[in-house]
Amino acid sequence: MNDQVASLEQPSGGLGQLPVWQALKRQATTLAGTHIAELLDVPGRYAQFSRQHGDFILDFSRNRLDVGTLELLIELAEARGVPRWIEALFSGAAVNSTENRAAQHMALRSPDEASVFVDGTNLLAEISAERERMLALADAIRSGEFRGATGARIRHIVNIGIGGSDLGPVMAAAALHEYADPDLGLHFVSNVDGTQLADVLARVPAAETLFIICSKTFVTWETSLNAGAARRWFIAQLGEAAVARHFVAVSVNGPAMDSFGIAPGHRFRMWDWVGGRYSLWSPIGLAIAIAIGGENFRQLLRGAHELDEHFRSAPLGDNLPVLLALMGIWNQNHLGTTSHAILPYDGRLARFPAYLQQLEMESNGKGVTRDGQPVQWSTGVVLWGEPGSNAQHSFFQLLHQGTAQFAADFIAPVEGSSAAVDQHMVGLANMLAQAEAFARGNPADAVRAELVAQGRSPAEVERLTPHKVHPGNHASNILLMRRLDPRSLGFLIALYEQKVFVQACIWGINPFDQWGVELGKKMATAMHDKLQAAEADSTLPGIAAAIRRWSGDA
Ligand code: F6P
Repeated sequence: MNDQVASLEQPSGGLGQLPVWQALKRQATTLAGTHIAELLDVPGRYAQFSRQHGDFILDFSRNRLDVGTLELLIELAEARGVPRWIEALFSGAAVNSTENRAAQHMALRSPDEASVFVDGTNLLAEISAERERMLALADAIRSGEFRGATGARIRHIVNIGIGGSDLGPVMAAAALHEYADPDLGLHFVSNVDGTQLADVLARVPAAETLFIICSKTFVTWETSLNAGAARRWFIAQLGEAAVARHFVAVSVNGPAMDSFGIAPGHRFRMWDWVGGRYSLWSPIGLAIAIAIGGENFRQLLRGAHELDEHFRSAPLGDNLPVLLALMGIWNQNHLGTTSHAILPYDGRLARFPAYLQQLEMESNGKGVTRDGQPVQWSTGVVLWGEPGSNAQHSFFQLLHQGTAQFAADFIAPVEGSSAAVDQHMVGLANMLAQAEAFARGNPADAVRAELVAQGRSPAEVERLTPHKVHPGNHASNILLMRRLDPRSLGFLIALYEQKVFVQACIWGINPFDQWGVELGKKMATAMHDKLQAAEADSTLPGIAAAIRRWSGDA
């Protein structure tokens, strides 16, 4: 661990004992009897609890907090050293302390003329050279200059990868569908069971297909199996010599790319200091670049860089990622919410909740502080979601009237991604209505009045009222952007990345490692050996024995 990080480490008991944490606790008790509806009716509420940066507005007025609470939350961020942590992050300090390395994904979206140092080396020259190679390939595929081994034009891209080597490209390609070349088919294969690969291979002609093997380590089991199966399928049609032309890879693992047969000119670098879930800005984003073109990819990076600049320079009270992080901490640690819904009101953002699940839960799903002590407060939130208005017709019943305590982020562009302007306006109206309904609810006296106005008998009114009450008092943020384009998408993704970092600083945890995914992987290898062994193992759990029996039948 370097000195800069060491000087920022806090004693593990620190958070709960901080006077400002205690003051927030008291504040939560004071506000316990206050309904968000009352707060919303205070004149000037929106002006006090919303912030704009460029084409983005964060409206956090529908949270159960007042000005005093916001001041305390900002004080909390200061007390936990957030400004100094931000500087440590950007200056390349080893913020990932368990792996003793920096987290420099911001360098991937920095302008070429900037300088970003890790261990005394300016990374930008290397990053920029790799980016130019990758964008050159993307544009050559789009223009038809790059062709397959038979001379056929490449019309299908198959990205094989999982986790951060899949979710970023899948999400961004879907979000930017309007910017994509309609003549290029983009396919993603991640899951191990083989169904995605079978579906894709049934649709793509080998001579017109480029496979991108995305894997930072190049040893991930799912990716190795899918890539190997794709390679065998390909060789059966066009022969081994054509592999070098039709397979490209993104990885840090040169020897593994050698044995796969990836041609030197078709390898793109990853770096140790980029975490998988922070990697779509690197050559892992190749599929995105092929879909939307080099210039649009640069815009995606520009948007993310713009957020980084804002994050680094805006005062905490005007800083969008900091505010989003603080709302999360207030709701979760002080008001007791247990999950967080992500509700985009634009179908193109359908995979954004899945993307954020990895980003937030793999980063902040930690139970020990940076110095290895069990945390005494809750950390990473359970995050989930679906695009509205579909979600309204599925799980919103529970949100409005169930017992779960949640908070939500609504996300929407004002200019929708489809040409159906009127329909998008209906979606926006629904979003606003849902945010209001979560906050204000529908109290018993209003329900009674409605039933009386409908001419119901007094007995009916009393019988139905409890079923129709909406308690409300559920917190939500609205993130409004002018439109969904490469630049705003970059800004949006980086906004959540930095929100995750701020929460980790406050909770005192390391957001950049992911040891929790290792145990299951190790156990799966051992389990697979037992399931495949010639001799049945009497120690196998009953259900595993059933798998062995039934797979023998198949
Ligand atoms: O299992 C989790 C994980 O390690 C993620 O962090 C990562 O994004 C994913 O697996 C894929 O890893 P790789 O890119 O090395 O194949």
